[in-house]
Amino acid sequence: MGGVGSVCEVTRFYATTPIYYVNDEPHIGHAYTTIVGDAVTRWHRLLGEDVKYLTGTDEHGLKIQQAAAAAGRSPQDFADGIAPRFAETWTSLDIANDDFIRTTEPRHRAAVQELLQRCYDNGDIELDQYRGKYCVRCEAYYADDELLPGDPTDPDAADGLCPIHKLPVVVLEEENYFFRLSRYADRLLDWYEAHPGSIVPEFRGNEAIGFIRAGLRDFSISRTSLDWGIPLPWDERHVAYVWFDALTNYLSAVGFGQPGDGGRDGGVDAWWPADVQLIGKDIIRFHCVYWPAMLLSAGLEPPKRFAVGGWLLVDNEKMSKTTGNVVKPRDLVDTVGVDGLRYYVLADTAYGNDGDFTTEGLVGRYNSDLANNLGNLMSRVATVVGSKCGGVGPAPNPDSPLAAAADGAVAGATAGWAGIAPSRALEATWGLIRATNAYLETNEPWKAEPGPGVDDVLGDAVEALRIVAILASPALPTTAQQIWERLGLDGAVTDQRIPADVAWAAVSGPADRPITKAPPLFPRIT
Ligand code: MSP
Repeated sequence: MGGVGSVCEVTRFYATTPIYYVNDEPHIGHAYTTIVGDAVTRWHRLLGEDVKYLTGTDEHGLKIQQAAAAAGRSPQDFADGIAPRFAETWTSLDIANDDFIRTTEPRHRAAVQELLQRCYDNGDIELDQYRGKYCVRCEAYYADDELLPGDPTDPDAADGLCPIHKLPVVVLEEENYFFRLSRYADRLLDWYEAHPGSIVPEFRGNEAIGFIRAGLRDFSISRTSLDWGIPLPWDERHVAYVWFDALTNYLSAVGFGQPGDGGRDGGVDAWWPADVQLIGKDIIRFHCVYWPAMLLSAGLEPPKRFAVGGWLLVDNEKMSKTTGNVVKPRDLVDTVGVDGLRYYVLADTAYGNDGDFTTEGLVGRYNSDLANNLGNLMSRVATVVGSKCGGVGPAPNPDSPLAAAADGAVAGATAGWAGIAPSRALEATWGLIRATNAYLETNEPWKAEPGPGVDDVLGDAVEALRIVAILASPALPTTAQQIWERLGLDGAVTDQRIPADVAWAAVSGPADRPITKAPPLFPRIT
């Protein structure tokens, strides 16, 4: 989306993660989506776009109220303890989010009340009596045919089990306001038909369309039985249902509902609709069905794209507090470093599919792709430039056989990141690394006498590494900068621009620069 009215039009790119419940400590299941969003937005910054990357925490609702009570604390106090843990975890993983929203902030309360009021004024919210089976962990009602069979002999589990958590549901009966989702089926189907490709990967899109075609039930958007939430502006006896509250965060962060809908950077007009909303497969229904209907009701556009990820599994189970199989990012960072963990989650699983987390997989990827391929390339280039080229980078050959490999890597990475397919983007990038290693092995410059032949080969290799540093920087921000500096290049790798700065031999590169020999980027793990 281009900025309106500015002399120099800058493309804006607004990306979001789900906001994480504060009843749980951050684990690598949460980190997974956040790292994907970080890498994608880092790529868009390389494209020169004006990027806003949002993440945050979901702090209202029954689940949090119960977790706080169990800890003997007030919900606000409890949330104040956990929210910073998420923020710190993201900092420790080099997540460059531009904003961190908490649903207990005043800006969010204003946005939720504005959205509720707009839907209410449009006649899409009505009062009704409701009795239903509720999973507190999902914060969702389930129909009987969606539940797993319970245990008729156990009064606590007789009503059935939640299909996701496999825990007993509770029967709730209350007066609720309902959002008339059933009115939106055709409008949603029309919208998705008019916007093909707005859910990636495609098979996840089909799942969402399937939900809509199967028929939409109105959903309750308020509770009287709980007070840990945002009151409805027209009826303060009710607080907003946590999902209505949570989904609105994506608008709160761009100034919706605040005076002038402004914000210093253009507000809703400039940033909405979001360019990509990353979500996990368990929250498709809320995001791809409820959320666009809420937006349409309020006269706003649905987001341009949803990117739906699978789960990180441990022994075929979703990693979660409920299952008790969580892996903390810190434990893995101690083994493979921040970039090692980032690379693993980005490269190992095609986004959209479930990924199987194993320590062997993590270490295997690290050793093969990082230590043996990228790390080894940096080491041998620096060593041979040191021993055969006087420690100074030779010039690249404009007609080098590696030029085509570099162009292919740029094209593949561009397509991969654009399609929210990090594993494909990195596969393309590693294609250039492998081609460069193969080129060195074919030419064996370490065996040759110093001279123009060796210089030609190493000039190509340092140029390839320069391009690799830029292409790999969304995944490996620290390592990319280290490569940049070892190649004697000035400034920050993140200040480079694609495509201009990844064109072969087109900009000033490591030629005539001192190349630094240093310890391995990725020491092998045995
Ligand atoms: N608070 C809601 C989202 C509201 S968004 C308006 C929520 N929170 S959550 O903390 O339970 O999960 C947030 C996201 O993390 C979901 O997309 C979920 O799929 C993702 N993950 C949590 N555990 C995960 C794995 N083990 N693997 C991959 N992602 C998982 O739902």
